[in-house]
Amino acid sequence: TWTMVNIVDEQVEKIRAQIGERGQAICALSGGVDSAVAAAIVQRAIGDRLTCVYVDHGLMRKGETEQIERDFVAATGAELVVVDAEKQFLDALAGVSDPEEKRKIIGREFIRTFEAAEADILGDSIAEEGEKVAFLVQGTLYPDVVESGGGAGTSNIKSHHNVGGLPDDLEFELVEPLRTLFKDEVRLVGEQLGLPGEIVWRHPFPGPGLGIRIIGEVTRERLDILREADAIAREELTRSGLDRDIWQMPVVLLADVRSVGVQGDGRTYGHPVVLRPVTSEDAMTADWARLPYELMERISTRITNEVREINRVTVDITSKPPGTIEWE
Ligand code: XMP
Repeated sequence: TWTMVNIVDEQVEKIRAQIGERGQAICALSGGVDSAVAAAIVQRAIGDRLTCVYVDHGLMRKGETEQIERDFVAATGAELVVVDAEKQFLDALAGVSDPEEKRKIIGREFIRTFEAAEADILGDSIAEEGEKVAFLVQGTLYPDVVESGGGAGTSNIKSHHNVGGLPDDLEFELVEPLRTLFKDEVRLVGEQLGLPGEIVWRHPFPGPGLGIRIIGEVTRERLDILREADAIAREELTRSGLDRDIWQMPVVLLADVRSVGVQGDGRTYGHPVVLRPVTSEDAMTADWARLPYELMERISTRITNEVREINRVTVDITSKPPGTIEWE
């Protein structure tokens, strides 16, 4: 629509003015719509003076890293650095089952990895007296601005930070092209910019990724099992046409639980997964989604047939409160 064209043009002008002729910008891509749209607008404004950084922590869902590496780059022409940090994250998570500890470890490793990438990319920038040369792009939305009283957003990257080890602890200035927009407007802008539908219409996905959807220790093998089950559930949900009717549907692997089952002539002793479909306006409260039985049946049949390690599919029918949307 015209409005979205106007928003893009207006932001492009503003960003050019803010970043100037010599400025360099960095954006952390999470796989989600906000960071992707923010990056795409800034790319349009300053081209390859923007570098996008995607930290592959190994906790993403099936196909998501490829969506960024291939489809996002194809759609925007953005300069992308992918940091393969799977081993680092999994090593740091080894032996850890406590949810808060997992979150802390993942957050810490993320900041560490992202700052190292920043230092690599911008380490040679030299600012003249009073000149700003380093910019950090964030996908802060209007509701984040309001919630935090006009300050910076609630992303997991610190809003103002100095990178240790750089000349004069190079200070970043924030670029927030989505500060005046609501989520549905961001999606329209994303479509306007030609981003892939899988990114533009993606359901919310937590920063710590599948790490907090495996109840128990996070291992590569467990992640692969959950990735398969989750991909089937998402595929069937999309095929049913109900994607946009629900808020999200986490799939949770109860990795420390086993139960007896039967398949063909044989006894099985596998793990359960939990489907957690919810409806919500803002994730503060949520209701469990009444999915059609036929859809639940297809998901259950396919997961138990196609993922050898899983022999039971269950559905979480708890509202929030008292349950949270995620299990950890
Ligand atoms: P809960 O589980 O608290 O989740 O009901 C509310 C919403 O927030 C998402 N979520 C996160 N998003 N980083 C994020 O970016 C996180 O650490 C995180 N934890 C939960 C969750 O998917 C739901 O949409």
